[in-house]
Amino acid sequence: MSNENDDLRRIRALSATLHQHNFRYYILDDPQVSDAEYDRLLKELEELESRYPKAVAKDSPTRKVGVTWTPEDFVADKLPSVEHRVPMLSLENAMGTDEVRDWVERVRKGLELTEGDPDPPLTVEYKFDGVAISLLYEDGVLVRAATRGDGVTGEEVTGTARTIRSVPPQLKDKTPPPRIELRGEVVLQNADFEALNASRSQDEGLFANPRNAAAGTLRQLDPRIAAKRPLDVFIYGIGDQEGIDLSVQKDLIDHIERWGFQPCPFLREASGADELIAIYEEVMEVRDDLPFDIDGLVIKVQGAGLREQLGMRARSPRWAVALKFPARQETTKLLDIQVQVGRTGALTPVAHLEPVNVGGVTVSRAGLHNPKEIARKDLRIGDDVVIQRAGDVIPQVVKPVDSLRDGSQKPYEFPTSCPECNGAVHYPEEEIIPYCDNFQCPAQIRGRLEHFASRRALDIDGLGEKLIDQLVTEGLVTVPSDLYSLSVDQVAGLDRMAVKSAENLLAALEVSKGRPFSRVLHALGIRHVGERVAELIVDDTLEIDTLMAADEERLAQIEGLGEIIARSIVAFFEIPAVQNEIKVLRDAGLTFHQEKAETSGTEGAFSGLTVVITGTMPTLSRDDAKQKIIASGGKVVGSVSSKTDLLLAGEKAGSKLKKATDLGIEVIDEEELLKRVGD
Ligand code: IVH
Repeated sequence: MSNENDDLRRIRALSATLHQHNFRYYILDDPQVSDAEYDRLLKELEELESRYPKAVAKDSPTRKVGVTWTPEDFVADKLPSVEHRVPMLSLENAMGTDEVRDWVERVRKGLELTEGDPDPPLTVEYKFDGVAISLLYEDGVLVRAATRGDGVTGEEVTGTARTIRSVPPQLKDKTPPPRIELRGEVVLQNADFEALNASRSQDEGLFANPRNAAAGTLRQLDPRIAAKRPLDVFIYGIGDQEGIDLSVQKDLIDHIERWGFQPCPFLREASGADELIAIYEEVMEVRDDLPFDIDGLVIKVQGAGLREQLGMRARSPRWAVALKFPARQETTKLLDIQVQVGRTGALTPVAHLEPVNVGGVTVSRAGLHNPKEIARKDLRIGDDVVIQRAGDVIPQVVKPVDSLRDGSQKPYEFPTSCPECNGAVHYPEEEIIPYCDNFQCPAQIRGRLEHFASRRALDIDGLGEKLIDQLVTEGLVTVPSDLYSLSVDQVAGLDRMAVKSAENLLAALEVSKGRPFSRVLHALGIRHVGERVAELIVDDTLEIDTLMAADEERLAQIEGLGEIIARSIVAFFEIPAVQNEIKVLRDAGLTFHQEKAETSGTEGAFSGLTVVITGTMPTLSRDDAKQKIIASGGKVVGSVSSKTDLLLAGEKAGSKLKKATDLGIEVIDEEELLKRVGD
């Protein structure tokens, strides 16, 4: 015979389960049980309720019998308030390593430890940059979810929480605790955040960061909106509980993982400030590579006894602290947008900002990508804007703070002519980047020369931005070939130059004539032809005449090239000035062809072997790899055939790798190459 307590518990569990199933059916369109199973559960609940009429809840799933539920039944007109039985506290912040040392000292004092005593056991976890959530499970069933609110009163978000894939509707536990409230952080992963922002219209506005997007989503009244946005939850603690001690973080994590929550991505044990600081520095390094945002670390003293002994401050426990990372977002004023002209004529807008300190670095300029981005973000001159600095990347303007607009902000119009030369601006098909079409644009001239002389192109020692600027201003140089007819006198006459430095420059120019064809091709600055594409072209097409005569179709067949690159190459060589330039560079003695197979004739690890190179190597450029093989007696050719002995393959190796494997040719990687040549 069943006893009344068991029956009442069963009523609660059945109601919760049926609510869950209704929700999955009407909101998520993804039922988890068959209709027949659903009917069985409903029938069981009806029978139980008929025996205990007092136990029938106002919102019991049985109250809708005979009438179908609709999605609107799950949409609240306002989020109901929820009282937290155990307040949701916040954390004291430590803004860096000195403050964390202070905290450790305070903890030691609080525990009445003296000099010889060891430090108390601590754990370190990520401080997730999202929104706090409380998840209440009764008899293992999720019955209520709530936001933190002011810590005492929050808002009920059960509907939204049920849409979250990492919130199990039922704890995987045969004997779940009768009541347990889990606390964690709701986050939106960065990739999902980017996708969400990309899908938003101008009217909807952009979310500044994943945290805002998660908060905005969690508090939606209609759970169908949240169902479309893949929120995630990381559990980090407990609130209200009966009969279970989870004051050791490792125990908590073990439990929550067993119950069906996603694993904790980071948990370390530590003791003492030095260990904490080492972990802090380690995590700072990987922070930008994580798929979600964290804004610091949370350090917690382990064990109920120690926690009790330390006690609470007004709103935060003394047994925990948030060790914060430097902020990455700030707001400042958008003073102006200026357009930069690159060597290919690409026009890139740059934001000029009121200088602001972001995590220790003063930012006064930020990238804006292209005119479409400016329009999409609806940026206006004079706006307050959110800017962001992450890792090494150039700071970005994230979005305007629309609510601070006072009418004085001016919409921005992208110039219709080049700001450097007034030339026409044109948008090539399929590209959202505008270009200045004037090949003689001074900004392009300078840019092309800088690129030509740069380290990865012809590596002309001593020819930097300042000297190029002078050479162009003095009218001595407009195209790279002009460099090769400079005289010592001309150069020595420039500012801050002397005979010696002029001679050095001319000697460096002489050296550049010996650089291989692929470097020359890269140095020419053809749009879309970088170092690697240049090498691919040279491997396939060994000299300049064949290349200049090739049509788009022929070029697009080269491994690693596509239509866009092919079109760009053809367009480049069609320019009469380019044709002339190549003739002059050739006459000056630069290298415009490549031997079919290069070999040094020396004996070595690769003697007598014909090698093909494909893909990107982790550290070596293809040219470096090739030189190493040649220096060890090998021969490097462009395409794989039955005569090939070895394939050196890097990342993104394509058809050559497949062909080599099909032909049973030995494939080696960079590490093996370096081993064989004895580097
Ligand atoms: S423990 C009593 N652990 O940070 C201590 N909080 O400023 C309760 N947070 O409201 C918090 N990651 O939303 C804890 N691993 C973590 C956390 C974390 C993020 C948030 C939490 C809290 C805020 C405190």
